[in-house]
Amino acid sequence: MRPLIGTSWKMNLTASEADAWFRRLVPQVAGLHGCDIFVLPPFTAIWVAREHLAETGMAWGAQDVHAEEGGAHTGDVSASMLADLGCRYVEVGHAERRRAYGETPQDVGAKVATILRWAMRPVICVGESEPASSARVIDLLRADLEVILDDRSPADVERVVIAYEPNWAIGEGAKAATPEHVGTVCAALSGWLRERTAGAPPPIIYGGSVDRASAASVLSAEGVDGLFVGRNALDPDQFAAIVRIAAMRAGLDPQDAARAIP
Ligand code: PGA
Repeated sequence: MRPLIGTSWKMNLTASEADAWFRRLVPQVAGLHGCDIFVLPPFTAIWVAREHLAETGMAWGAQDVHAEEGGAHTGDVSASMLADLGCRYVEVGHAERRRAYGETPQDVGAKVATILRWAMRPVICVGESEPASSARVIDLLRADLEVILDDRSPADVERVVIAYEPNWAIGEGAKAATPEHVGTVCAALSGWLRERTAGAPPPIIYGGSVDRASAASVLSAEGVDGLFVGRNALDPDQFAAIVRIAAMRAGLDPQDAARAIP
């Protein structure tokens, strides 16, 4: 599987700042073919992503969506609006949204169903709130995903992306989880998800304080198919460095390898 490297900017970067970010990023990664990339700006800058990424093969998307198709939902954004802007990925269930808005696994599941109906890929964030043993974490995440994926078909399950993000590893002052812990959890989840598909488990990406120092070791953990980068991707040079690390690990053609040397 090609590594999948994504970023959500959370509530950062205006549309003007986004323009500068893409101008800096795109030339650094446009020639790399070893991995798939997606960028999730705030709603207000999705159109900027489309302007810069439309011809590049990189994908863009959103950090949330409303589960309903439309109507009287002041301040919300529907899946059709995102699909119309060319979004391919939509994040759901992030720990910050579950905490701030009380989103339940049922709420997240309803969003997943809507995103799939609009032929986009949900990026489903799951993670334990407190440090716990890998065995306990696996149980917690499976219980969460049982509800979120509910009666989704095997074909639907193959189209989701799972972002494993231990809540305690997210944000300023936190540190990425160890590759051992991440590997144990992701390998178990991948095996469990495989049983819900026709044989191709969805990609599992790791998020939580990923930076250029931790990227390679987390990527080498069993069951990890990519990375989901938060605050360290606000610097486009650092995000480009992480993408280069992933592309190198995936094995590059010689032209890419030459570009990938830092
Ligand atoms: P962080 O955020 O990289 O800033 O820890 C990760 C996330 O919440 O996805």
